[in-house]
Amino acid sequence: MVANAGIGILCKAVEVSLTDWRRQTAINLDGVFLSVKYAVPAMRRSRGGSIIITSSVAGLRGSAGLAGYCATKGGVRLFAKAVAMECAAEGDGIRVNTVHPGIIDTPIWTKLPTSAGSNAPIDPNELARAGVPLGRAGQAQDIANGVLFLASDASSYMTGAELVIDGGMTGGARSRWSLK
Ligand SMILES: NC(=O)c1ccc[n+]([C@@H]2O[C@H](COP(=O)([O-])OP(=O)(O)OC[C@H]3O[C@@H](n4cnc5c(N)ncnc54)[C@H](O)[C@@H]3O)[C@@H](O)[C@H]2O)c1
Repeated sequence: MVANAGIGILCKAVEVSLTDWRRQTAINLDGVFLSVKYAVPAMRRSRGGSIIITSSVAGLRGSAGLAGYCATKGGVRLFAKAVAMECAAEGDGIRVNTVHPGIIDTPIWTKLPTSAGSNAPIDPNELARAGVPLGRAGQAQDIANGVLFLASDASSYMTGAELVIDGGMTGGARSRWSLK
Protein backbone atom coordinates (compact mmCIF):
# COMPACT_ATOMS: atom_id res chain seq x y z
CA MET A 1 0.00 0.00 0.00
CA VAL A 2 1.42 3.34 -1.00
CA ALA A 3 0.20 6.43 0.88
CA ASN A 4 1.27 9.16 -1.51
CA ALA A 5 -1.39 11.89 -1.61
CA GLY A 6 -0.19 15.22 -0.30
CA ILE A 7 -0.38 18.99 -0.63
CA GLY A 8 1.97 21.80 0.29
CA ILE A 9 1.00 25.22 1.60
CA LEU A 10 3.68 27.87 1.40
CA CYS A 11 3.38 30.29 4.30
CA LYS A 12 5.37 31.57 7.27
CA ALA A 13 4.55 29.57 10.43
CA VAL A 14 3.31 32.62 12.32
CA GLU A 15 1.03 33.64 9.44
CA VAL A 16 -0.58 30.35 8.50
CA SER A 17 -4.29 30.19 9.37
CA LEU A 18 -5.58 27.39 11.55
CA THR A 19 -7.87 26.41 8.66
CA ASP A 20 -4.91 25.94 6.28
CA TRP A 21 -2.87 24.18 8.96
CA ARG A 22 -5.73 21.72 9.50
CA ARG A 23 -6.36 21.20 5.77
CA GLN A 24 -2.73 20.30 5.15
CA THR A 25 -2.62 18.08 8.23
CA ALA A 26 -5.89 16.36 7.22
CA ILE A 27 -4.46 15.30 3.86
CA ASN A 28 -0.78 14.71 4.65
CA LEU A 29 -1.03 13.23 8.15
CA ASP A 30 -4.64 12.07 8.80
CA GLY A 31 -4.73 10.60 5.28
CA VAL A 32 -1.66 8.49 5.99
CA PHE A 33 -3.05 7.42 9.36
CA LEU A 34 -6.35 6.29 7.78
CA SER A 35 -4.55 4.49 4.93
CA VAL A 36 -2.44 2.54 7.40
CA LYS A 37 -5.33 1.92 9.80
CA TYR A 38 -7.30 0.09 7.11
CA ALA A 39 -4.37 -1.45 5.19
CA VAL A 40 -2.81 -3.27 8.13
CA PRO A 41 -5.83 -5.49 8.98
CA ALA A 42 -6.31 -6.33 5.29
CA MET A 43 -2.63 -7.20 4.94
CA ARG A 44 -2.73 -9.31 8.09
CA ARG A 45 -5.54 -11.36 6.54
CA SER A 46 -3.27 -12.08 3.57
CA ARG A 47 -0.26 -12.66 5.86
CA GLY A 48 1.97 -9.73 5.03
CA GLY A 49 2.66 -6.78 2.81
CA SER A 50 4.62 -3.64 2.29
CA ILE A 51 3.49 -0.17 3.33
CA ILE A 52 5.25 2.76 1.72
CA ILE A 53 4.59 6.31 2.87
CA THR A 54 5.69 9.35 0.91
CA SER A 55 7.39 11.77 3.25
CA SER A 56 9.88 14.35 1.93
CA VAL A 57 13.29 15.85 2.60
CA ALA A 58 11.03 18.29 4.48
CA GLY A 59 10.44 15.41 6.89
CA LEU A 60 14.16 15.26 7.61
CA ARG A 61 15.08 18.92 7.94
CA GLY A 62 13.38 22.28 8.27
CA SER A 63 12.42 24.46 5.33
CA ALA A 64 11.46 28.13 5.68
CA GLY A 65 7.89 28.76 4.52
CA LEU A 66 6.97 25.11 4.87
CA ALA A 67 6.64 24.69 8.65
CA GLY A 68 3.21 23.08 8.45
CA TYR A 69 4.31 20.81 5.61
CA CYS A 70 7.46 19.87 7.56
CA ALA A 71 5.28 19.04 10.58
CA THR A 72 3.20 16.61 8.51
CA LYS A 73 6.15 15.03 6.70
CA GLY A 74 8.18 14.67 9.90
CA GLY A 75 5.04 13.28 11.53
CA VAL A 76 4.54 10.52 8.97
CA ARG A 77 8.23 9.65 9.18
CA LEU A 78 7.99 8.67 12.87
CA PHE A 79 4.44 7.34 12.50
CA ALA A 80 5.84 4.87 9.95
CA LYS A 81 8.63 3.79 12.28
CA ALA A 82 6.18 3.23 15.17
CA VAL A 83 3.84 1.14 12.98
CA ALA A 84 6.87 -0.76 11.65
CA MET A 85 7.76 -1.69 15.24
CA GLU A 86 4.17 -2.76 16.01
CA CYS A 87 4.08 -4.98 12.92
CA ALA A 88 7.50 -6.45 13.70
CA ALA A 89 6.35 -7.25 17.25
CA GLU A 90 3.26 -8.98 15.82
CA GLY A 91 5.42 -10.95 13.37
CA ASP A 92 2.74 -10.27 10.76
CA GLY A 93 5.08 -9.98 7.76
CA ILE A 94 4.21 -6.31 7.18
CA ARG A 95 7.07 -3.90 6.50
CA VAL A 96 6.63 -0.12 6.79
CA ASN A 97 9.05 2.37 5.24
CA THR A 98 9.12 5.99 4.12
CA VAL A 99 10.32 7.57 0.88
CA HIS A 100 11.86 11.04 1.02
CA PRO A 101 11.83 12.84 -2.33
CA GLY A 102 13.82 16.01 -2.85
CA ILE A 103 12.82 18.43 -5.63
CA ILE A 104 10.81 16.41 -8.14
CA ASP A 105 9.31 17.87 -11.31
CA THR A 106 5.60 17.21 -10.68
CA PRO A 107 2.49 19.42 -10.73
CA ILE A 108 2.71 20.04 -6.96
CA TRP A 109 5.04 22.99 -7.60
CA THR A 110 2.48 24.77 -9.80
CA LYS A 111 -0.26 24.54 -7.21
CA LEU A 112 1.46 25.40 -3.92
CA PRO A 113 -1.18 27.71 -2.46
CA THR A 114 -0.06 30.60 -0.32
CA SER A 115 -2.05 31.92 2.62
CA ALA A 116 -3.38 34.60 0.27
CA GLY A 117 -4.88 31.86 -1.91
CA SER A 118 -2.67 32.51 -4.94
CA ASN A 119 -0.37 30.00 -6.57
CA ALA A 120 3.33 30.48 -5.92
CA PRO A 121 5.17 30.59 -9.27
CA ILE A 122 7.90 28.06 -8.47
CA ASP A 123 9.86 26.28 -11.21
CA PRO A 124 11.29 23.06 -9.71
CA ASN A 125 14.01 22.85 -12.36
CA GLU A 126 15.25 26.35 -11.58
CA LEU A 127 15.11 25.60 -7.86
CA ALA A 128 17.05 22.37 -8.33
CA ARG A 129 19.80 23.94 -10.45
CA ALA A 130 20.62 26.18 -7.50
CA GLY A 131 20.12 23.83 -4.56
CA VAL A 132 20.56 20.21 -5.62
CA PRO A 133 24.10 18.75 -5.75
CA LEU A 134 23.25 16.72 -8.88
CA GLY A 135 22.13 20.02 -10.43
CA ARG A 136 18.70 18.96 -11.65
CA ALA A 137 15.21 18.16 -10.46
CA GLY A 138 14.21 14.51 -10.12
CA GLN A 139 11.47 12.88 -12.19
CA ALA A 140 8.44 10.97 -10.89
CA GLN A 141 10.07 7.80 -12.24
CA ASP A 142 13.01 8.29 -9.85
CA ILE A 143 10.58 8.05 -6.93
CA ALA A 144 8.56 5.24 -8.51
CA ASN A 145 11.77 3.19 -8.79
CA GLY A 146 12.32 3.53 -5.04
CA VAL A 147 8.71 2.67 -4.29
CA LEU A 148 8.95 -0.45 -6.48
CA PHE A 149 12.07 -1.51 -4.59
CA LEU A 150 10.33 -1.11 -1.22
CA ALA A 151 7.25 -2.94 -2.54
CA SER A 152 9.35 -5.88 -3.75
CA ASP A 153 11.05 -8.70 -1.89
CA ALA A 154 14.39 -7.11 -2.82
CA SER A 155 13.82 -4.94 0.29
CA SER A 156 12.58 -7.79 2.51
CA TYR A 157 15.07 -6.94 5.30
CA MET A 158 14.01 -3.26 5.43
CA THR A 159 11.41 -1.91 7.84
CA GLY A 160 11.22 1.37 9.73
CA ALA A 161 13.70 2.76 7.22
CA GLU A 162 13.95 5.97 5.19
CA LEU A 163 14.72 5.88 1.49
CA VAL A 164 16.04 9.30 0.50
CA ILE A 165 15.85 10.13 -3.23
CA ASP A 166 16.99 13.72 -3.44
CA GLY A 167 19.92 14.20 -5.81
CA GLY A 168 22.19 14.71 -2.80
CA MET A 169 20.21 17.53 -1.14
CA THR A 170 20.51 16.10 2.36
CA GLY A 171 24.00 14.73 1.76
CA GLY A 172 25.61 18.13 2.10
CA ALA A 173 26.50 21.25 0.14
CA ARG A 174 27.98 21.11 -3.32
CA SER A 175 31.48 22.58 -3.28
CA ARG A 176 31.49 26.31 -4.06
CA TRP A 177 35.14 26.35 -5.09
CA SER A 178 37.24 24.51 -7.65
CA LEU A 179 38.83 21.26 -6.46
CA LYS A 180 40.80 20.73 -9.69
N1 LIG B 1 7.19 16.92 -6.08
C1 LIG B 1 8.07 17.09 -5.11
O1 LIG B 1 9.08 17.81 -5.27
C2 LIG B 1 7.88 16.39 -3.79
C3 LIG B 1 8.94 16.43 -2.87
C4 LIG B 1 8.80 15.79 -1.65
C5 LIG B 1 7.63 15.10 -1.36
N2 LIG B 1 6.60 15.09 -2.27
C6 LIG B 1 5.39 14.36 -1.91
O2 LIG B 1 5.10 13.44 -2.93
C7 LIG B 1 3.70 13.12 -2.89
C8 LIG B 1 3.15 13.20 -4.29
O3 LIG B 1 3.20 14.56 -4.71
P1 LIG B 1 3.47 15.00 -6.21
O4 LIG B 1 4.74 15.73 -6.24
O5 LIG B 1 3.28 13.85 -7.13
O6 LIG B 1 2.34 16.09 -6.38
P2 LIG B 1 0.98 16.07 -7.19
O7 LIG B 1 0.29 17.31 -6.79
O8 LIG B 1 1.25 15.82 -8.63
O9 LIG B 1 0.25 14.80 -6.61
C9 LIG B 1 -0.42 14.82 -5.37
C10 LIG B 1 -1.61 13.90 -5.47
O10 LIG B 1 -2.29 13.93 -4.22
C11 LIG B 1 -3.67 13.90 -4.52
N3 LIG B 1 -4.46 14.48 -3.44
C12 LIG B 1 -4.34 15.73 -2.90
N4 LIG B 1 -5.29 15.90 -1.97
C13 LIG B 1 -6.01 14.75 -1.90
C14 LIG B 1 -7.11 14.32 -1.11
N5 LIG B 1 -7.69 15.11 -0.20
N6 LIG B 1 -7.59 13.06 -1.30
C15 LIG B 1 -7.02 12.25 -2.22
N7 LIG B 1 -5.97 12.61 -3.01
C16 LIG B 1 -5.48 13.84 -2.83
C17 LIG B 1 -3.81 14.74 -5.78
O11 LIG B 1 -5.02 14.44 -6.45
C18 LIG B 1 -2.59 14.31 -6.56
O12 LIG B 1 -2.87 13.19 -7.37
C19 LIG B 1 3.08 14.11 -1.90
O13 LIG B 1 2.89 13.48 -0.67
C20 LIG B 1 4.16 15.20 -1.79
O14 LIG B 1 4.09 15.89 -0.56
C21 LIG B 1 6.72 15.71 -3.48
